[in-house]
Parts: sequence; structure tokens; C-alpha cells
Amino acid sequence: VSDDTPTETLRERSLAAVAEHIKSGKARRIVVMTGAGISTAAGIPDFRSPETGLYANLAKLNLPRPEAVFDLPFFRTNPKPFYVLAKDLYPGNFHPTVSHVFISLLAKKGLLHQLFTQNIDCLERAAGIPSELIVEAHGSFATQRCIECRTPYPDDLMREHVSRAQVPRCIRGPTECDGFVKPDIVFFHEALPTLFYDRKDLVDHADLALVLGTSLQVHPFAGLPEYVREGVPRVLFNMERVGSLGSLADDVLELGDCDGGIRKLADELGWSDELEAEWRKL
Ligand code: APR
Repeated sequence: VSDDTPTETLRERSLAAVAEHIKSGKARRIVVMTGAGISTAAGIPDFRSPETGLYANLAKLNLPRPEAVFDLPFFRTNPKPFYVLAKDLYPGNFHPTVSHVFISLLAKKGLLHQLFTQNIDCLERAAGIPSELIVEAHGSFATQRCIECRTPYPDDLMREHVSRAQVPRCIRGPTECDGFVKPDIVFFHEALPTLFYDRKDLVDHADLALVLGTSLQVHPFAGLPEYVREGVPRVLFNMERVGSLGSLADDVLELGDCDGGIRKLADELGWSDELEAEWRKL
């Protein structure tokens, strides 16, 4: 064997080999990257799936283009479409999926190095993943503020407005500031939280990367899998192949429903009973 042949970390590109990698103790710092695909099983539509995705179902809001609903300049002119959508998306009546629970199991076993999520549904917190291990790269509904003066807006008033699909205005009152209030979700044309930039280097320390339920269409998040060091396995759990996943020697593609793929990995790890028990507890 010539010495420049890349030596694969996994004995083969399979979930069984990934499970061995974890059980061998070689995968102690696992980074996980997630998108809307891990919450569709919770009843929250994703964005780009052809029939069921949010962007295919915004026609009733007659937007100039689907993404306008999360576009700051558009919101400033017309925040109503966002608040019609927010009523459907607002956290509180959704249950974490098996995929969320598996990530919380990794944390319980001291194997979760960091979770980077694009989701705004707060289901990672609901699944019991410690908040210090979560980077909500696109923000979340957890807090909100005036888009003009940045003054925070009370949670209870926000909940009331969202439940009636009404647009809340700055808490300082119309004589002081009449800006619209927006949840701290990262809209297009807005910067990601600094935490994303502070923590993204952790991907470079990972010894295993799991990518679940994302089309990897939106940067800079979509660039995260490229920070994984050579020789570190990257496992994709997604309906279809996305990004550069599958192109490296240690990439594993588990295409199909992510909960199904995760259950297969849990089975290979001998964690099935624990996973189901944790999920039923929630
Ligand atoms: N199992 C596996 N994959 C799934 C499942 C499922 N149950 N459901 C959906 N998917 C896949 C889809 O096939 C798609 O590849 O998940 C991916 C979801 O992609 P998007 O809808 O583009 O969602 P996401 O990648 O999270 O979007 C990124 O775009 O609109 C912005 O800010 C928004 O955070 C969002 C960002």
C-alpha cells in the first residue's frame, strides 16, 4: 500500500461503522448540525420541501417572493404576513422528535461537543439539551424587541399578539417610538448571533459530525460541514443528498426519514430502549 493512500477512519461507510467509532471511544466530541427537517415529524413544516414546505404554502399571503416573509426590509413595510405565519410556528404546542431526543442522549452521555441548529422552534431546549451546548444560529422565538430602537418587548404581550396574528408595536408607546416588534429570529439581511461565530471553530475539534434535516442552502450556516477536519466522519441524515456530503472518504449518507435513520444508529449503539424511554418521558 503506498503511503499516500488516504486511511479511512471508518471500516466502511455505514451506520454500523459509525456506531463502532462511537463505542470505541474515538468519538468523544460530536458536533451536530440541524435544520427544519428534524422538526417536520413534530408537525412543523420545513421551508423548501416541494409540497409541504412553508415556501410552497405562502401563496395566500401574496408575497413578492416566499422568502420575503423573513426579509427585514419587507417586514418593515408589511409585518402582517410574518405574524400570520408566526401564529402557526410559535413554540408551545409542538413535541420534540426522536432526532431531538437522540441529541439530548448524546449530551447526557457527555458526547455532544456542540449543537448548531437553524431552527427557531426551541425544540432542542424542550428535548433537554443543555442550553450551553446549543447555538441557535438563526435565533429563536424565545425573545423579541422593537426593530427600530431595539427595546425588548414583554413575553406575555407577545404571546397575546401572536395568538391573534396581530402586529405588536414598540412598548415605549407611539409618542416615543412606533417601531414594529419582531422576535429575535435572524431574518435575511440580518447578522447571525455572535455566538455562532464564537463557537463555529468548535467544529474543527470534532471527531464526528452529524448533519440532520437541512438543505444546506443558507450561508454561513451551510458552510459548517466544510470545517470538519479531514479523516473525521460526517454522517448525513436527510431525505436527499445535500451540500458536499458524500464527497469525502469518511462521509456516510443515511438518506430517508431522519427519525428512521437515527433509530437505526441507536439500534447499532444498543441505545434503542433508552432512546424510546427518554422520548416517552417528554
Ligand atoms: N427526514 C429527513 N429529512 C427531511 C425530513 C425528514 N422527516 N423532512 C424534511 N427533510 C429535509 C428536506 O428534504 C430538506 O432537505 O430537510 C431539509 C429541509 O430543508 P429546508 O426546508 O431548506 O430547511 P433548512 O435547511 O432548515 O432551511 C435553512 O432557510 O428559510 C431559511 O432561516 C430559514 O433556517 C432556515 C434556513
